[in-house]
Amino acid sequence: MGSGAFILGPEVEAWEKEFAEFLGTQNAVGVSNGSDALLLALQALGVGPGDEVIVPTYTFFASAGSVGRLGARPVFVDSAPCCYNLNVPAVASAIGPKTKAIMAVHLFGQAADMDALLKVAQKAGLPIVEDVAQSLGAKVGQKYAGTIGTIGCFSFFPTKNLGALGEGGAVVTQDPQLAEKVRKLRVHGAKKKYFHEEVGGNFRLHELQAAFLRIKLPMLTGWLERRVQNAEVYFRHFSQSQMARPAESECVCNEDPSGAEHADSRLLLPFRCHPSHTFNQFVVRIPGRNKRDSKRPSGGWWGAVPSSWGRRWSLGKGSSQNF
Ligand SMILES: Cc1ncc(COP(=O)(O)O)c(C=O)c1O
Repeated sequence: MGSGAFILGPEVEAWEKEFAEFLGTQNAVGVSNGSDALLLALQALGVGPGDEVIVPTYTFFASAGSVGRLGARPVFVDSAPCCYNLNVPAVASAIGPKTKAIMAVHLFGQAADMDALLKVAQKAGLPIVEDVAQSLGAKVGQKYAGTIGTIGCFSFFPTKNLGALGEGGAVVTQDPQLAEKVRKLRVHGAKKKYFHEEVGGNFRLHELQAAFLRIKLPMLTGWLERRVQNAEVYFRHFSQSQMARPAESECVCNEDPSGAEHADSRLLLPFRCHPSHTFNQFVVRIPGRNKRDSKRPSGGWWGAVPSSWGRRWSLGKGSSQNF
């Protein structure tokens, strides 16, 4: 506050360097929030009216919304029923002459199948935009999610793995030209103040948020460990009450785990397809049509379901406190 620099000052610059260093990438650009990060990434890649961008069905609104904001069309592909991330074989069949980019969303804290997706994208000559809003810290092999595709987009909304004390976002890329373009679009398309080469917007990051993020970044690794420890507690309790398939199950991303083999599972717990699931969220799935939305009436939830369910889904002894 003493410096009087509140927007895009030395804290933002230092933050951008430190964040890029943390991820092991060349360029990070601090922006207003994760939704704008996606918009900027797509705009920098030249996405506009008439173009199509492949987006998973199951994600936060901003993933497809950013495509729509540019006048382009999101083409939805289904999500894998196991890890809930993009179903890569479905991407390959959705590519058409108007496809301009593929958006991979790393949902709930876990990276999508980037190795397979890279092969599909490279074959088609398409860039990959990574939406890493929920999964900062997740890795594929040694690489952080967000640094594997062409351009990565992060959110620092307070509920994310690294939260600002307000809004914040970042775009990262190894490509210096793309980074330059995002920097320009962040300030109404002006490289030099008041000389506007194209139409961008106000997508600037605040100095205070950058300063908060700089203080919090060194604690991120410890916080991610805590998230995994918390997830272990859920896994342990759910497994004790024999409510679901064990967490260590091998990934069968494109097979539906609620199929015959698991018909008796009351809850399907998260699958760890990569060792580095960061558990931004611990999402359970209730197999079976319409069961998720069954209301819990005042007389108790179990009273509301058919008796056959009651037998199959009833809680084990002493396990109700875990539910
Ligand atoms: C998958 C995903 N993409 C994008 C966003 C947008 O980020 P922000 O809220 O910072 O605009 C979010 C935030 O919830 C998200 O979960």
